[in-house]
Amino acid sequence: MPRVIYIHPNGERSEAEVADGQNLMLAATGHDIEGIVGDCGGVMSCATCHVIVDPQFLEQLPPVSDTENQMLDYTAAPREPGSRLSCQIVMNAALDGIAVRIADPQL
Ligand code: FES
Repeated sequence: MPRVIYIHPNGERSEAEVADGQNLMLAATGHDIEGIVGDCGGVMSCATCHVIVDPQFLEQLPPVSDTENQMLDYTAAPREPGSRLSCQIVMNAALDGIAVRIADPQL
């Protein structure tokens, strides 16, 4: 299974195997990765799943939708060039090894 690396605000790293088709918010909450809340369950209404994607992988992601773009303007931590909602990042084999930094705070 492809793997994701979550980088915590203190620099520690957590790795998790993620099934194809699962989003990185659900993968984080399912693996008890702290810092990704996912209050809305992935329907883009909470912005508590904010991550900053490693530039190496950013171009491999589908473009930000209008709704995601709007929600990224309401994140608790400042938006950065690599900011994405992890509920909108769906794992596939090409993303194996993707690194995402967990934004802090989320609320
Ligand atoms: S889980 Fe709510 S916006 Fe991603």
